[in-house]
Amino acid sequence: MSDITIQTIGVIGAGVMGSEVAQVFAQAGFDVVLVDTTDEVLDKARQSVDRSLRFQRMLGARRGLAPPPAAARAEVLSRIRFTTELADVAEADFVVENVTEDWDVKRPIYVELDQLCKPHTVFAVNTSCIPITRVGGVTQRPDKIVGAHFMNPVSLKPMVEVIRGYHTSDETVQTMLDMLAAIGKEGVVVADSPGFVSNRVLMLTVNEAAYLVHEGVADATQVDRIFKGCFGHTMGPLETADLIGLDTILLSIQGLFESFADSKYRPCPLLARLVDAGRLGRKSGHGFHDYE
Ligand SMILES: NC(=O)c1ccc[n+]([C@@H]2O[C@H](COP(=O)([O-])OP(=O)(O)OC[C@H]3O[C@@H](n4cnc5c(N)ncnc54)[C@H](O)[C@@H]3O)[C@@H](O)[C@H]2O)c1
Repeated sequence: MSDITIQTIGVIGAGVMGSEVAQVFAQAGFDVVLVDTTDEVLDKARQSVDRSLRFQRMLGARRGLAPPPAAARAEVLSRIRFTTELADVAEADFVVENVTEDWDVKRPIYVELDQLCKPHTVFAVNTSCIPITRVGGVTQRPDKIVGAHFMNPVSLKPMVEVIRGYHTSDETVQTMLDMLAAIGKEGVVVADSPGFVSNRVLMLTVNEAAYLVHEGVADATQVDRIFKGCFGHTMGPLETADLIGLDTILLSIQGLFESFADSKYRPCPLLARLVDAGRLGRKSGHGFHDYE
């Protein structure tokens, strides 16, 4: 266990994942600095955190649990500082990065964070498929870089896939597990490999499900019904894809295709077509299914 007290968390990227990561740390009593590129995105993130807290309140009431009062909601929101300045995370003792699943976007952020942040600060990489060792390689602190593959929706999922990069130290892995425990989550620690465990399997499944629709074997509703009705899954693979975001799915499967140079990861053309058409899944209101 590290002897550094962690109070301020930097959260980079305020999209689907980053906004909820900020929320769960603020709910656990940490001060959070949430960074994204525009005020519009940050306003949306603020609304989405508020919505998620209201939802938890409803869920708690329905389950007979005492719902957090409105004042507690305001307090959680007041612990999050929304900013477009990356430099504002300089004070953070622990950073969770959740920007777009694109190495060209993530890379310069790590180079800058490495210069901005205190030497002891650990960087947790929330990525679907990008190797953690590659991230460590662009910083001067590869021992303090660890993968934290949070599950979506972050506030409801108790488990996180923790990835140990080539240089990640035992102390950093322990800090990561301690931080997860502080937000009521557990980590499963695995070795570094593109897609890790979860997405190496999940992305292939989603991609193959997309091919079935692309080839006219079944429509999206039929594919999902088979997984729910026959296998007892709570969501079908294409509903899961819509929840994750089809742009993130496409970038992930492209990443696996490039990393392994293996044709089994060839991205389904239908995924690219839906992304080109702006059908990104739940976040845009339409994907394989319609949500509005
Ligand atoms: N969506 C999921 O279900 C899921 C699950 C686990 C992990 N992830 C991973 O989490 C990461 C984020 O995914 P997401 O679904 O939240 O994506 P998203 O597209 O919803 O959000 C990404 C955010 O990053 C912001 N961003 C881009 N460049 C930036 C920069 N230079 N500085 C600050 N912010 C910047 C964008 O404006 C956007 O708001 C990805 O690496 C993804 O693979 C996603």
